[in-house]
Amino acid sequence: MVNALIYKPLPAFSVHTVVFKSRDTAMPSPESSLLQSWHTNADAWIEAIRSGAIESRQQVTDQAILLAIMGRQPQRVLDLGCGEGWLLRALADRGIEAVGVDGDARLIEAARLAGAARVHVASYEALVDGKVDIGRDYNLVCANFSLLHQDIIPLLAAMNALLVPTGVVVIQTLHPWSVAAGDYQDGWREESFAGFKGQWQPMPWYFRTLSSWLNALDMAGFQLAGLQEPQHPQSPVPQSLLMVAERR
Ligand SMILES: C[S@@+](CC[C@H](N)C(=O)[O-])C[C@H]1O[C@@H](n2cnc3c(N)ncnc32)[C@H](O)[C@@H]1O
Repeated sequence: MVNALIYKPLPAFSVHTVVFKSRDTAMPSPESSLLQSWHTNADAWIEAIRSGAIESRQQVTDQAILLAIMGRQPQRVLDLGCGEGWLLRALADRGIEAVGVDGDARLIEAARLAGAARVHVASYEALVDGKVDIGRDYNLVCANFSLLHQDIIPLLAAMNALLVPTGVVVIQTLHPWSVAAGDYQDGWREESFAGFKGQWQPMPWYFRTLSSWLNALDMAGFQLAGLQEPQHPQSPVPQSLLMVAERR
């Protein structure tokens, strides 16, 4: 029997979530607070990623998304919400042309300084509105723990339009079952980053059920081609949900 104490599960950022309570119209929307939190947390995030502080990434999820992407043998990949660019570097090391886009300028600068040649600063809203040219004819678009907002269908549809006809999207996200915390319904939650070193601004993020993920892919013109639940052999819970979907 697996002893849960041997391997302490720690999903992509943290399991500590509370229901997002703000209903005050004077408050910023969760979407704007979400991106704002990355502006505030950029330096702490870069440190967390580059020091290998997130155990689940080191042990499970980084390899899972890399394998899922490599399995498709893409020539050109767009990394949506690329952050400080670790996946861009890993793909470039494997001879893949990788382009990154993220809404935080500090993270994109860090990606560029670490060697990512093709990176763009753009919010998801700007991508949906077609306001920024980030290239097209990608074989694959990946999003590694970067689809955190509510209205993901227009963004996925915009990504669909940037793919070649045989293109695929690869999404790795928090596993809904692992992070539901007894409340299995779509809705805003808050990530406190408790347990992480340094100062962090809490981040609103949108919890979605498995069927909500699959419906969103369908509505954006994708059909599911593969679903994985990457897990550490000594962990009782999946560390992520990983979906591969083809353009319809
Ligand atoms: C958890 S980090 C993941 C970063 C990277 N994919 C990785 O694996 O390390 C989420 C990323 O999504 C980006 N992001 C979140 N909301 C965004 C938005 N509305 N527009 C653009 N980027 C956004 C953040 O700036 C951040 O870099």
